[in-house]
Amino acid sequence: MKKELIKTASLTLALGISIACFASCAKADGNAIPASSTETTAASSAAPSETSSAESKSETKVIYTIENIRRFIVGVDDPVELADGSKKVIVNFDNAATTPALKPVMEEVDSKLKTYGSIGRGFSAKSNISTEIYENTRDKVLSFVNCSYPDYTCVYVNSTTDGLNKLASALITSKKDIVLATRMEHHSNDLSWRDRCKVIYADVDDQGRIKYDEIEKLLKKNKVKYVTVTAASNVTGYVTDVHRIAKMAHKYGAKIIVDGAQIVAHRTFSMIGSTPDENIDFFVFSAHKMYSPYGGGAIVGLTDELNKHMPKFYGGGTVDIVTDNTVTYTDAPHLYEAGSPNYPGVVGLGKAIDVLNEVGFDSISAHEQKLTKKMIDGLKQRKNVVIYGDTDDISDRVGVISFNFTDINSALLATKLANAGAGTRRGAFCAHPYVWRLMGVSNEQARIYEGCESAKTPGMIRVSFGIYNTEEEVDEFLRLLDQTLENYRNSNHEGTEEDFDPAF
Ligand SMILES: Cc1ncc(COP(=O)(O)O)c(C=O)c1O
Repeated sequence: MKKELIKTASLTLALGISIACFASCAKADGNAIPASSTETTAASSAAPSETSSAESKSETKVIYTIENIRRFIVGVDDPVELADGSKKVIVNFDNAATTPALKPVMEEVDSKLKTYGSIGRGFSAKSNISTEIYENTRDKVLSFVNCSYPDYTCVYVNSTTDGLNKLASALITSKKDIVLATRMEHHSNDLSWRDRCKVIYADVDDQGRIKYDEIEKLLKKNKVKYVTVTAASNVTGYVTDVHRIAKMAHKYGAKIIVDGAQIVAHRTFSMIGSTPDENIDFFVFSAHKMYSPYGGGAIVGLTDELNKHMPKFYGGGTVDIVTDNTVTYTDAPHLYEAGSPNYPGVVGLGKAIDVLNEVGFDSISAHEQKLTKKMIDGLKQRKNVVIYGDTDDISDRVGVISFNFTDINSALLATKLANAGAGTRRGAFCAHPYVWRLMGVSNEQARIYEGCESAKTPGMIRVSFGIYNTEEEVDEFLRLLDQTLENYRNSNHEGTEEDFDPAF
């Protein structure tokens, strides 16, 4: 296959304005995008509108802070209809799954859609403007993770799952390639590799933290090509010391891939370590977990490495010249972006980066630590609770807490909480091997549930915080939890409730 694919350096300059702009703009600096978001004082919590755009004369520039950010989250204080038909402002603690939209992100997308045209393909003023914004945003993404072109490049993808699969499709060249993952991984960073090559796993300890020593031992014993690891767990919130792992991987000739889905909205992330051997080679994340709901995300990766490989995704935008019998491919990032781009996804991502940077990751992580401690302390005071992971030292946890009560099934409790106005996630969170380990469920026990309705499989309840959540919401959640547990414990568990195994 590879023989037929003649991959050359970009011929864009010779090919004409449109493609030339598409490829070469990736190398320009990113200052072309107006970053300021403004609003009139009177319209501070109004829906995005013309008056809040950069065109208004009476506008004042808003500085986004951890204290005021809740005002700029769409729908967060709007009542929602519950199962019983009543309406209530709900507590949303399911931010690890997806985050609500930021108003400035919506405003930016609305505004930039006024000059929307085809990206890298059209001959029109709108097409040129859109293409420039699209290309310049790559620099913003690179600087968001503390690196720059030409060492690194930014490939736009649909999501973390899409990015990891795309990367795996390119990097893995033989079924015999060895990838070292951990038992903490989300399925996206496990199954993407499992199907394509041999995957070996470093286990987690009793508290659920990655065993770093085991990574080194496995690297010593096996000819590992890639180490792939999550930057933060979507089950326990543990933050991985990825630079320590990078150093180990590089020592044994492997490259490192980091799944950034759960870090990007919570902590700063740097591709660059304190020494060059600590640098990260590839990083993947989704925009919908950082308050931009238009899809999209990115692979940030070593440009030369990406250019050495060929993703198994083919289509428009990836080629220089196609004849009846030959295909000449272009370089990364465009080589990895077959098909028409997701412009709102890229515009939204760029604006989300601006807002998060402005709020500041020191403030974000301090705020989330406060909420995490308050929730863990509160849960600990409730009888029959099991909280997974380390609840004493939470310094290496982002705001994700998973728990169970030994006398009520987790699906039942999550449903009752949702009906009472408290949004959580319940299940094994697409990280089954990790969740089974934390719960003490063996592989054999887990397989008994194959084919079962998902609500009846083992699971946990997860709460996860966003920048806009408050201490009052933690209090309200604990109040709703107490009320729900009391009603359940005082009832005779009739009807469907008997179908649920209280152990899960
Ligand atoms: C750690 C981790 N990796 C990968 C993913 C997949 O992200 P997406 O669904 O945006 O592709 C998730 C989603 O929850 C996640 O938490």
